[in-house]
Amino acid sequence: MKKRILTGITTTGTPHIGNYLGAIKPSLNLATENPESFFFLADYHALIKNKDSQNIKESVKNVALAWLSSGLDTDRSYFYRQSDIKEVTELSWILSTITAKGLMNRAHAYKAATAENKSDEDKGINMGLFSYPILMATDILIFNSTHVPVGADQLQHLEMTRDIAQRFNHLYKSIFNIPEAIIQEDGKVVPGLDGKKMSKSYNNIIPLLSDEKTLKKSIAKIVTNSLEPGQPKDTDNCTVFNLFSHFASNEEQEEFKAAYKEGISWGDAKNKLFEAVNSELSPIRERFNELSKDNNLVNDLLDAGAKKVKPLAQDMLGEVRELVGISKIG
Ligand code: ADP
Ligand code: TRP
Repeated sequence: MKKRILTGITTTGTPHIGNYLGAIKPSLNLATENPESFFFLADYHALIKNKDSQNIKESVKNVALAWLSSGLDTDRSYFYRQSDIKEVTELSWILSTITAKGLMNRAHAYKAATAENKSDEDKGINMGLFSYPILMATDILIFNSTHVPVGADQLQHLEMTRDIAQRFNHLYKSIFNIPEAIIQEDGKVVPGLDGKKMSKSYNNIIPLLSDEKTLKKSIAKIVTNSLEPGQPKDTDNCTVFNLFSHFASNEEQEEFKAAYKEGISWGDAKNKLFEAVNSELSPIRERFNELSKDNNLVNDLLDAGAKKVKPLAQDMLGEVRELVGISKIG
Protein backbone atom coordinates (compact mmCIF):
# COMPACT_ATOMS: atom_id res chain seq x y z
CA MET A 1 0.00 0.00 0.00
CA LYS A 2 1.21 3.48 -0.86
CA LYS A 3 2.02 5.87 1.96
CA ARG A 4 -0.59 8.52 2.49
CA ILE A 5 0.46 11.36 4.78
CA LEU A 6 -2.17 13.51 6.48
CA THR A 7 -2.12 16.19 9.14
CA GLY A 8 -4.20 19.15 10.31
CA ILE A 9 -3.80 22.24 12.43
CA THR A 10 -6.64 23.73 14.46
CA THR A 11 -7.51 27.23 13.26
CA THR A 12 -7.58 29.18 16.49
CA GLY A 13 -5.13 32.02 17.10
CA THR A 14 -1.75 32.56 15.52
CA PRO A 15 0.45 29.76 14.17
CA HIS A 16 3.60 29.38 16.25
CA ILE A 17 6.98 27.71 16.10
CA GLY A 18 5.60 24.68 18.01
CA ASN A 19 3.19 24.08 15.11
CA TYR A 20 6.04 24.64 12.68
CA LEU A 21 8.50 22.27 14.37
CA GLY A 22 5.97 19.65 15.49
CA ALA A 23 3.74 19.49 12.43
CA ILE A 24 4.50 21.74 9.44
CA LYS A 25 8.23 21.14 8.94
CA PRO A 26 8.25 17.35 9.42
CA SER A 27 5.14 17.00 7.26
CA LEU A 28 6.60 18.99 4.41
CA ASN A 29 9.79 16.95 4.60
CA LEU A 30 7.74 13.79 4.27
CA ALA A 31 5.73 15.31 1.44
CA THR A 32 8.83 15.71 -0.70
CA GLU A 33 9.01 11.90 -0.94
CA ASN A 34 5.27 11.21 -0.86
CA PRO A 35 3.01 12.71 -3.47
CA GLU A 36 -0.04 11.49 -1.54
CA SER A 37 0.02 14.17 1.14
CA PHE A 38 -3.04 15.74 2.75
CA PHE A 39 -2.75 18.96 4.77
CA PHE A 40 -5.81 20.66 6.14
CA LEU A 41 -7.13 23.45 8.33
CA ALA A 42 -9.15 22.00 11.20
CA ASP A 43 -11.83 24.67 11.53
CA TYR A 44 -14.57 22.37 12.85
CA HIS A 45 -12.16 21.60 15.68
CA ALA A 46 -11.58 25.31 16.22
CA LEU A 47 -15.26 25.86 17.14
CA ILE A 48 -14.75 23.79 20.28
CA LYS A 49 -12.44 26.33 21.86
CA ASN A 50 -13.24 29.53 20.05
CA LYS A 51 -16.56 31.36 19.71
CA ASP A 52 -15.08 34.40 17.96
CA SER A 53 -15.95 34.03 14.27
CA GLN A 54 -13.57 36.77 13.16
CA ASN A 55 -10.69 35.15 15.00
CA ILE A 56 -11.44 31.81 13.36
CA LYS A 57 -11.52 33.33 9.88
CA GLU A 58 -8.27 35.17 10.48
CA SER A 59 -6.68 32.05 11.87
CA VAL A 60 -7.74 30.03 8.80
CA LYS A 61 -5.93 32.59 6.67
CA ASN A 62 -2.82 32.68 8.86
CA VAL A 63 -2.53 28.94 9.31
CA ALA A 64 -2.98 28.51 5.55
CA LEU A 65 -0.28 31.11 4.90
CA ALA A 66 1.97 29.40 7.45
CA TRP A 67 1.76 26.17 5.43
CA LEU A 68 2.24 27.93 2.10
CA SER A 69 5.11 30.14 3.29
CA SER A 70 6.86 27.12 4.78
CA GLY A 71 6.92 25.51 1.35
CA LEU A 72 3.69 23.55 0.83
CA ASP A 73 3.25 22.90 -2.88
CA THR A 74 -0.45 22.73 -3.72
CA ASP A 75 0.28 21.08 -7.07
CA ARG A 76 1.90 18.14 -5.33
CA SER A 77 -0.36 17.77 -2.29
CA TYR A 78 -3.97 18.05 -1.18
CA PHE A 79 -4.57 21.25 0.76
CA TYR A 80 -8.07 21.97 2.06
CA ARG A 81 -10.31 23.28 4.77
CA GLN A 82 -12.00 20.64 6.93
CA SER A 83 -15.42 22.35 6.86
CA ASP A 84 -15.47 22.29 3.04
CA ILE A 85 -15.69 18.52 3.27
CA LYS A 86 -19.11 18.10 4.90
CA GLU A 87 -18.77 14.32 4.55
CA VAL A 88 -16.49 14.61 7.58
CA THR A 89 -19.38 15.52 9.89
CA GLU A 90 -21.52 12.63 8.67
CA LEU A 91 -18.77 10.07 9.05
CA SER A 92 -17.96 11.52 12.45
CA TRP A 93 -21.53 10.83 13.58
CA ILE A 94 -21.41 7.28 12.28
CA LEU A 95 -18.10 6.66 14.04
CA SER A 96 -19.46 8.13 17.26
CA THR A 97 -22.09 5.36 17.27
CA ILE A 98 -19.40 2.68 17.49
CA THR A 99 -17.04 4.50 19.87
CA ALA A 100 -17.16 3.59 23.54
CA LYS A 101 -17.91 6.53 25.82
CA GLY A 102 -15.30 5.11 28.18
CA LEU A 103 -12.64 5.65 25.53
CA MET A 104 -13.54 9.34 25.36
CA ASN A 105 -13.57 9.62 29.18
CA ARG A 106 -9.88 8.77 29.06
CA ALA A 107 -8.89 11.49 26.57
CA HIS A 108 -6.18 13.77 28.02
CA ALA A 109 -7.82 17.01 26.87
CA TYR A 110 -11.17 16.09 28.45
CA LYS A 111 -9.53 14.80 31.63
CA ALA A 112 -7.46 17.95 31.98
CA ALA A 113 -10.61 20.07 31.58
CA THR A 114 -12.54 18.12 34.24
CA ALA A 115 -9.55 18.16 36.59
CA GLU A 116 -9.66 21.96 36.63
CA ASN A 117 -13.27 21.93 37.83
CA LYS A 118 -14.20 21.31 41.47
CA SER A 119 -17.80 20.44 42.48
CA ASP A 120 -19.25 20.19 38.94
CA GLU A 121 -16.57 18.37 36.99
CA ASP A 122 -18.23 18.95 33.59
CA LYS A 123 -18.69 22.69 34.06
CA GLY A 124 -17.97 24.62 30.86
CA ILE A 125 -17.16 21.45 28.88
CA ASN A 126 -19.01 21.12 25.57
CA MET A 127 -19.76 17.89 23.72
CA GLY A 128 -17.36 18.96 20.98
CA LEU A 129 -14.46 18.80 23.41
CA PHE A 130 -15.66 15.46 24.74
CA SER A 131 -15.91 13.85 21.31
CA TYR A 132 -12.95 15.73 19.80
CA PRO A 133 -10.96 12.50 19.22
CA ILE A 134 -13.80 11.06 17.08
CA LEU A 135 -13.74 14.06 14.76
CA MET A 136 -9.97 13.78 14.53
CA ALA A 137 -10.21 10.04 13.81
CA THR A 138 -12.68 10.89 11.03
CA ASP A 139 -10.26 13.38 9.45
CA ILE A 140 -7.69 10.63 9.28
CA LEU A 141 -9.86 7.66 8.31
CA ILE A 142 -12.00 9.35 5.68
CA PHE A 143 -8.93 9.52 3.41
CA ASN A 144 -7.50 6.21 4.55
CA SER A 145 -4.27 7.89 5.66
CA THR A 146 -1.37 5.64 6.53
CA HIS A 147 0.95 8.08 8.33
CA VAL A 148 0.06 11.07 10.49
CA PRO A 149 2.90 13.44 11.43
CA VAL A 150 1.97 15.23 14.66
CA GLY A 151 3.58 16.67 17.77
CA ALA A 152 4.04 14.32 20.71
CA ASP A 153 0.95 15.81 22.41
CA GLN A 154 -1.29 14.13 19.81
CA LEU A 155 -0.15 10.53 20.30
CA GLN A 156 -3.16 9.55 22.38
CA HIS A 157 -5.50 10.81 19.65
CA LEU A 158 -3.73 8.56 17.17
CA GLU A 159 -4.12 5.57 19.47
CA MET A 160 -7.83 6.34 19.74
CA THR A 161 -8.07 6.63 15.96
CA ARG A 162 -6.55 3.18 15.64
CA ASP A 163 -9.02 1.81 18.21
CA ILE A 164 -11.98 3.34 16.37
CA ALA A 165 -10.80 2.04 12.98
CA GLN A 166 -10.27 -1.45 14.36
CA ARG A 167 -13.69 -1.48 15.96
CA PHE A 168 -15.40 -0.44 12.73
CA ASN A 169 -13.40 -2.96 10.70
CA HIS A 170 -14.33 -5.68 13.17
CA LEU A 171 -18.05 -4.82 13.29
CA TYR A 172 -18.60 -4.30 9.55
CA LYS A 173 -15.74 -4.87 7.15
CA SER A 174 -12.03 -4.05 7.01
CA ILE A 175 -12.15 -0.84 5.05
CA PHE A 176 -10.10 1.47 7.22
CA ASN A 177 -6.35 1.41 7.18
CA ILE A 178 -4.85 1.45 10.70
CA PRO A 179 -2.77 4.64 10.65
CA GLU A 180 0.54 5.31 12.36
CA ALA A 181 1.69 8.47 14.09
CA ILE A 182 4.97 9.99 13.03
CA ILE A 183 6.54 11.92 15.87
CA GLN A 184 9.63 14.10 15.39
CA GLU A 185 12.84 12.24 16.36
CA ASP A 186 13.34 13.55 19.86
CA GLY A 187 9.61 13.18 20.56
CA LYS A 188 9.74 16.36 22.61
CA VAL A 189 7.05 18.96 22.86
CA VAL A 190 8.33 22.45 22.02
CA PRO A 191 8.22 24.64 25.15
CA GLY A 192 6.59 28.08 25.20
CA LEU A 193 7.78 31.32 26.84
CA ASP A 194 6.84 30.00 30.29
CA GLY A 195 8.42 26.56 29.80
CA LYS A 196 5.03 24.80 29.45
CA LYS A 197 3.97 23.31 26.09
CA MET A 198 3.84 26.11 23.52
CA SER A 199 0.17 26.43 22.59
CA LYS A 200 -2.20 28.91 21.04
CA SER A 201 -4.37 28.32 24.10
CA TYR A 202 -1.72 29.25 26.71
CA ASN A 203 -0.68 32.71 25.57
CA ASN A 204 2.96 31.62 25.58
CA ILE A 205 3.81 31.42 21.90
CA ILE A 206 6.62 32.58 19.67
CA PRO A 207 4.76 33.40 16.44
CA LEU A 208 5.96 31.86 13.19
CA LEU A 209 5.08 34.73 10.87
CA SER A 210 6.00 37.85 12.83
CA ASP A 211 8.46 40.54 11.76
CA GLU A 212 12.01 40.51 13.14
CA LYS A 213 11.30 43.02 15.87
CA THR A 214 8.32 41.08 17.24
CA LEU A 215 10.30 37.84 17.09
CA LYS A 216 13.11 39.42 19.08
CA LYS A 217 10.65 40.84 21.61
CA SER A 218 8.93 37.52 22.17
CA ILE A 219 12.26 35.70 22.61
CA ALA A 220 13.20 38.35 25.20
CA LYS A 221 10.11 37.31 27.18
CA ILE A 222 11.25 33.71 27.70
CA VAL A 223 11.26 33.03 31.43
CA THR A 224 14.71 32.15 32.82
CA ASN A 225 16.16 31.80 36.31
CA SER A 226 17.91 34.73 37.96
CA LEU A 227 21.54 33.59 37.56
CA GLU A 228 23.88 36.52 36.83
CA PRO A 229 26.31 36.84 33.91
CA GLY A 230 29.47 34.89 34.73
CA GLN A 231 27.61 32.25 36.74
CA PRO A 232 27.61 28.82 35.04
CA LYS A 233 24.17 27.78 33.77
CA ASP A 234 22.49 24.46 33.18
CA THR A 235 21.22 23.54 29.72
CA ASP A 236 18.87 20.85 31.09
CA ASN A 237 15.29 22.06 31.48
CA CYS A 238 16.29 25.40 29.99
CA THR A 239 13.72 26.79 27.56
CA VAL A 240 16.29 28.96 25.75
CA PHE A 241 18.57 25.99 25.15
CA ASN A 242 15.71 23.65 24.29
CA LEU A 243 14.41 26.03 21.62
CA PHE A 244 17.94 26.61 20.31
CA SER A 245 18.41 22.87 19.86
CA HIS A 246 15.55 22.81 17.35
CA PHE A 247 17.25 25.36 15.11
CA ALA A 248 20.95 24.54 15.46
CA SER A 249 23.38 21.82 14.35
CA ASN A 250 24.97 19.48 16.92
CA GLU A 251 28.19 21.44 16.68
CA GLU A 252 26.40 24.74 17.37
CA GLN A 253 24.65 23.13 20.32
CA GLU A 254 27.99 21.97 21.77
CA GLU A 255 29.35 25.51 21.46
CA PHE A 256 26.28 26.89 23.15
CA LYS A 257 26.63 24.33 25.97
CA ALA A 258 30.21 25.50 26.51
CA ALA A 259 29.01 29.12 26.65
CA TYR A 260 26.47 28.12 29.32
CA LYS A 261 29.27 26.57 31.40
CA GLU A 262 31.26 29.76 31.05
CA GLY A 263 28.34 31.79 32.34
CA ILE A 264 26.90 33.45 29.24
CA SER A 265 24.36 36.14 30.26
CA TRP A 266 20.67 35.46 29.59
CA GLY A 267 20.62 38.50 27.30
CA ASP A 268 23.43 37.10 25.15
CA ALA A 269 21.93 33.60 25.19
CA LYS A 270 18.62 34.99 23.95
CA ASN A 271 20.41 36.95 21.21
CA LYS A 272 22.04 33.74 20.03
CA LEU A 273 18.67 32.00 20.06
CA PHE A 274 17.16 34.89 18.11
CA GLU A 275 19.85 34.61 15.42
CA ALA A 276 19.31 30.88 15.03
CA VAL A 277 15.51 31.15 14.85
CA ASN A 278 15.61 34.18 12.62
CA SER A 279 17.93 32.63 10.07
CA GLU A 280 15.49 29.74 9.58
CA LEU A 281 12.38 31.90 9.64
CA SER A 282 13.54 34.79 7.40
CA PRO A 283 12.86 33.03 4.10
CA ILE A 284 9.46 31.93 5.43
CA ARG A 285 8.70 35.51 6.47
CA GLU A 286 9.69 36.79 3.03
CA ARG A 287 7.36 34.35 1.30
CA PHE A 288 4.60 35.23 3.76
CA ASN A 289 4.95 38.95 2.95
CA GLU A 290 4.84 38.14 -0.75
CA LEU A 291 1.83 35.78 -0.55
CA SER A 292 -0.12 38.11 1.76
CA LYS A 293 -0.33 40.68 -1.03
CA ASP A 294 -2.83 38.54 -2.92
CA ASN A 295 -6.13 38.72 -1.02
CA ASN A 296 -7.82 35.94 -2.98
CA LEU A 297 -4.98 33.47 -2.91
CA VAL A 298 -6.01 31.46 0.16
CA ASN A 299 -9.69 31.21 -0.80
CA ASP A 300 -8.80 30.19 -4.35
CA LEU A 301 -6.34 27.52 -3.26
CA LEU A 302 -8.72 26.12 -0.65
CA ASP A 303 -11.61 25.98 -3.14
CA ALA A 304 -9.43 24.11 -5.60
CA GLY A 305 -8.23 21.80 -2.81
CA ALA A 306 -11.79 21.01 -1.73
CA LYS A 307 -12.69 20.05 -5.31
CA LYS A 308 -9.76 17.62 -5.41
CA VAL A 309 -10.45 15.83 -2.12
CA LYS A 310 -14.24 15.81 -2.02
CA PRO A 311 -14.68 12.86 -4.41
CA LEU A 312 -12.33 10.77 -2.25
CA ALA A 313 -14.35 11.57 0.89
CA GLN A 314 -17.59 10.83 -0.96
CA ASP A 315 -16.32 7.42 -2.04
CA MET A 316 -15.35 6.46 1.49
CA LEU A 317 -18.56 7.77 3.00
CA GLY A 318 -20.60 5.96 0.34
CA GLU A 319 -18.98 2.69 1.25
CA VAL A 320 -19.51 3.28 4.97
CA ARG A 321 -23.19 4.20 4.46
CA GLU A 322 -23.67 0.98 2.52
CA LEU A 323 -22.00 -1.08 5.24
CA VAL A 324 -24.01 0.38 8.12
CA GLY A 325 -27.33 0.26 6.28
CA ILE A 326 -28.24 3.86 5.57
CA SER A 327 -27.98 3.60 1.79
CA LYS A 328 -30.87 3.07 -0.65
CA ILE A 329 -33.18 0.16 0.11
CA GLY A 330 -32.50 -2.50 -2.53
P1 ADP B 1 -2.16 24.49 19.67
O1 ADP B 1 -1.89 23.63 20.87
O2 ADP B 1 -1.30 25.66 19.64
O3 ADP B 1 -3.63 24.84 19.52
P2 ADP B 1 -2.66 22.60 17.62
O4 ADP B 1 -3.36 21.80 18.66
O5 ADP B 1 -3.49 23.21 16.56
O6 ADP B 1 -1.79 23.67 18.38
O7 ADP B 1 -1.53 21.70 16.95
C1 ADP B 1 -1.30 21.56 15.57
C2 ADP B 1 -0.10 20.67 15.36
O8 ADP B 1 1.05 21.29 15.93
C3 ADP B 1 -0.21 19.29 16.03
O9 ADP B 1 0.46 18.32 15.23
C4 ADP B 1 0.52 19.47 17.31
O10 ADP B 1 1.05 18.27 17.82
C5 ADP B 1 1.64 20.42 16.89
N1 ADP B 1 2.05 21.20 18.05
C6 ADP B 1 1.33 22.15 18.69
N2 ADP B 1 2.02 22.65 19.74
C7 ADP B 1 3.21 21.99 19.74
C8 ADP B 1 4.34 22.04 20.58
N3 ADP B 1 4.42 22.89 21.59
N4 ADP B 1 5.38 21.19 20.30
C9 ADP B 1 5.32 20.34 19.26
N5 ADP B 1 4.28 20.24 18.44
C10 ADP B 1 3.23 21.05 18.67
N1 TRP C 1 -5.96 17.66 16.96
C1 TRP C 1 -4.91 18.28 16.23
C2 TRP C 1 -4.30 19.34 17.14
O1 TRP C 1 -5.01 20.08 17.78
C3 TRP C 1 -5.38 18.92 14.96
C4 TRP C 1 -5.99 17.89 14.10
C5 TRP C 1 -7.32 17.75 13.82
C6 TRP C 1 -5.31 16.82 13.43
N2 TRP C 1 -7.51 16.68 13.03
C7 TRP C 1 -6.32 16.08 12.77
C8 TRP C 1 -3.98 16.43 13.36
C9 TRP C 1 -6.00 14.95 12.01
C10 TRP C 1 -3.68 15.30 12.60
C11 TRP C 1 -4.67 14.56 11.94
O2 TRP C 1 -3.13 19.40 17.19
